[in-house]
Amino acid sequence: MHTFGSKLAAGILTLGLCVSVASAGEPDKKTVRTWKAKCASCHGNDGKGDTEKGKKMGIHDYTTAAWQSDTTDAKMKEAIQNGVKRERDGKKQEMDPFKDKLKPDEVDALIALVRGLKK
Ligand code: HEC
Repeated sequence: MHTFGSKLAAGILTLGLCVSVASAGEPDKKTVRTWKAKCASCHGNDGKGDTEKGKKMGIHDYTTAAWQSDTTDAKMKEAIQNGVKRERDGKKQEMDPFKDKLKPDEVDALIALVRGLKK
């Protein structure tokens, strides 16, 4: 009885682990495609902003813990939906608004993807 109980517990634990890994680690393919098609030209596939435009505009490295903790989901949503137009350290930063191009759930999925870029 005791062994059965612990096997069951281990099974449930494994199941729980798989579910949480699947939801936290792997964004769905469609979202990855959207990121690569619409965002990576500036932010890079890996989100480090290590692209020609990224360097020119001083785009942050979104894989760092510092950027991740400084940036709220609300701020991300605002940028993705309404775009960015500002100047930082003498660099013009511009990102088009995507609210007419992406549905709200696609925006949420992209926010989750960006969260998942964290090292
Ligand atoms: C034309 C280049 C360009 C494209 C394409 C682009 N961005 Fe940006 N994005 C920027 C710039 C510039 C910033 C501000 C730079 C910074 O502070 O890191 C920014 C900022 C952000 C931020 C942080 C918001 C903030 O207030 O700092 C997020 C999140 C983001 N972009 C997501 C996306 C997503 C998702 C896409 C694709 C749907 C995308 N970006 C496409 C240029 C771009």
